[in-house]
Amino acid sequence: MKVLGIETSCDECAAAVVEDGRKVLSSVVATQIPFHAAYNGVVPEIASRKHTEWIYGVTKEALDKAGLGPADIEGVAAASRPGLLGSLLVGLTFAKAFAWSRSLPFIAVDHMLAHLYASRLELPSAASEAKPGGAPERDAPSGGTADYPFLGLLVSGGHTIICRADDFDDITVLGTTIDDAAGEAFDKVSKHYGFGYPGGAVIDRMSQTGDSGAFLFPLPNLYKGEHRYDVSYSGLKTAVINQLEQFRGKSNPAGTAPRKEDIAASFQKTAVDILLRALFNASEDTGLKTIVAGGGVAANSYLRARLAGRKDLRCIFPPAEFCGDNGAMIAGIGYRHLARAETSPFSVNAAARVCGFKRRYP
Ligand code: KG4
Ligand code: ZN
Repeated sequence: MKVLGIETSCDECAAAVVEDGRKVLSSVVATQIPFHAAYNGVVPEIASRKHTEWIYGVTKEALDKAGLGPADIEGVAAASRPGLLGSLLVGLTFAKAFAWSRSLPFIAVDHMLAHLYASRLELPSAASEAKPGGAPERDAPSGGTADYPFLGLLVSGGHTIICRADDFDDITVLGTTIDDAAGEAFDKVSKHYGFGYPGGAVIDRMSQTGDSGAFLFPLPNLYKGEHRYDVSYSGLKTAVINQLEQFRGKSNPAGTAPRKEDIAASFQKTAVDILLRALFNASEDTGLKTIVAGGGVAANSYLRARLAGRKDLRCIFPPAEFCGDNGAMIAGIGYRHLARAETSPFSVNAAARVCGFKRRYP
């Protein structure tokens, strides 16, 4: 079954065609980064306007690259939650119209669950188009199927979720962030220092030549009781942005001008330490030794290398180009729903949030 997947939850206008939930026939991701870079963050009004302008062309390109026409599509999936409401509505409405006009089954899917599904996608040789700025693949395996249950690590610009996954649509949140999301912390630090936008890929790149021991930033005091699997990034962000001088390590003593690469590498190391402490606590307590990652931050080369270093764990990442927002993961998980004969009514609406700092997700 060939499913068209549409994803417009944030600043990527994306469409893809995936066969039987795994085989990516095409994937087109039109990034809006240049339009938001001047503001150092996503401007929701610009995002939805660009989606409106681009969604037809992006979908057409996805069909063309797959060598298919609209008549070859057998099902349509779109991200309906969580994300920027105005942006989600564009893709969702377009997908509904496509499905309605061709009498196709339609499913609205959760974009975070789709991130967790992304590692199951099979990368085509030349059919896809990666967005710029993705981290190089290093040291950690990409793609692959994990048997349920496994531990999910969902790390994006808006969410940080450590969960137990019992099926593609059945997760139990074990931990989350009590303030900023992991990607948000990268973006805010980068914005403060003017490193570039979006911050994650930039800091990842800069860190390659930085000394991660130059600054010794503190970890949050979140390792006990109900917070054993939770993370917090606001303290780290404050330390890196406002109190940098207090945390100089031996390799960067007082009086030495800080190198920006050292700031980046020290921040990245601590950000990953925070994440992994909670993740490893969850693995230890649940006995789950397989970890499946997803979301933009899952492209981080240091995170991938650190997890690859844990030989006692099986860590599965999506191919780098399917870590960030893309239509293939939407089509992939959409197929799973459609294969169970689950469809959405055309009255289904977009939802900006599934929940905030809550145990339940979705
Ligand atoms: O999943 P995604 O594309 O969109 C959301 O659903 O939010 O994630 C975007 C986030 C941004 O915060 C971006 O800075 C971060 O992923 N990101 C990275 C890397 N590439 C993207 N963070 C760390 N290292 C990277 N290589
Ligand atoms: Zn996302």
